[in-house]
Amino acid sequence: MILYKLLSLLLLCNIIVAAPTAVNNRPIIGILTQPTNGGMATYGDQYLAASYVKYIESAGARVVPILYDTDIKSLTSLFNSINGILFPGGGVDFDNATVYTNTIQSIWQLVIESNNNGDYFPLWGTCMGFQELALLAAGNFDLLSSYNSENYTVPLNFTAAAKESNMLGNAPSEIFEALATQPITMNNHQFGLSPQTFSDTSAINTFFNVLSTNVDRDGNTFISTIEAKNYPIYGVQWHPEKPIFEWWDQEVMNHSFMSVLSNQYTSNFFVNECRKSSHSFSDPTVEAQSLIYNYQPQYSYQSVPDFEQIYYFN
Ligand SMILES: *[C@@H]1O[C@H](CO)[C@@H](O)[C@H](O)[C@H]1NC(C)=O
Ligand SMILES: *[C@@H]1O[C@H](CO)[C@@H](O)[C@H](O)[C@H]1NC(C)=O
Ligand SMILES: *[C@@H]1O[C@H](CO)[C@@H](O)[C@H](O)[C@H]1NC(C)=O
Ligand SMILES: *[C@@H]1O[C@H](CO)[C@@H](O)[C@H](O)[C@H]1NC(C)=O
Repeated sequence: MILYKLLSLLLLCNIIVAAPTAVNNRPIIGILTQPTNGGMATYGDQYLAASYVKYIESAGARVVPILYDTDIKSLTSLFNSINGILFPGGGVDFDNATVYTNTIQSIWQLVIESNNNGDYFPLWGTCMGFQELALLAAGNFDLLSSYNSENYTVPLNFTAAAKESNMLGNAPSEIFEALATQPITMNNHQFGLSPQTFSDTSAINTFFNVLSTNVDRDGNTFISTIEAKNYPIYGVQWHPEKPIFEWWDQEVMNHSFMSVLSNQYTSNFFVNECRKSSHSFSDPTVEAQSLIYNYQPQYSYQSVPDFEQIYYFN
């Protein structure tokens, strides 16, 4: 009975989340690579954790990797061919990684301009990607605070704005309740956006609504979910892809039915947003050559215990 109820809820998600006039049921989503560090560097210059690819694919979309050192001409051409972009988590040192930082700034400008011109284009940030969205809105990469929140799974403390939001306003009530009351959102970050910085930085607080906050192990509050007021731009400080696709030997990730369903809700939501974008590749050969299927992920758990599988580039 409960299974039946949940399955009918899931079907409902895709119907209620959006009623766009033109629906693109073949969305292709770009996921940004980042420089390898530590033990990864022997395998390639750039990487992408496979869990982000599966997260997007499981919601009914295809993926193209966006190499972070792509030149602006190729980036613009790719942007006009795809239907949304995801900034994943990771550990980029923004001060030193100027090529990476320039690329996220270029993507931000393309996303803002496109939406300003009525060309709907969604952007999602997870963990470091969430932080990037706030920093890009502020035009300042020096606004993060330190937190004790690695390997840390908690329920979301929703604000009043959550129920009115695009992201969660139409979430099935069982999923909303699970996110609000069960320890199923996995945090794995040392930095974050403080409520103080949010309220002090008008470029951030006029751009984004806060949908949830959390308290770290030391009692310090960080902002955990945001949504732009006037753009399809969404950020989660937590990792919805991990409880579904990552398996650590000793872990706090919750792989329960309700956790997987609730975390998966975010990719169903985001991919559905991307169905409102009508960009497409003009050349099917270029499309085929751009897809992630041209690359093989490596089983990486032995060398990089954070991730089961990693795509390496170059
Ligand atoms: C970043 O660059 C500064 C100055 O060049 C250097 O001191 C620092 O070690 C670098 N940080 C990392 C993480 O490489
Ligand atoms: C949730 O956030 C509110 C402020 O929005 C705060 O007053 C409350 O203490 C928080 N609750 C928890 C459990 O962190
Ligand atoms: C994560 O937390 C679990 C439970 O406390 C612990 O057993 C494990 O060692 C931690 N893993 C890491 C990488 O910190
Ligand atoms: C995992 O999530 C479920 C809800 O789906 C909850 O009942 C359970 O207590 C959680 N497990 C742990 C270890 O937190």
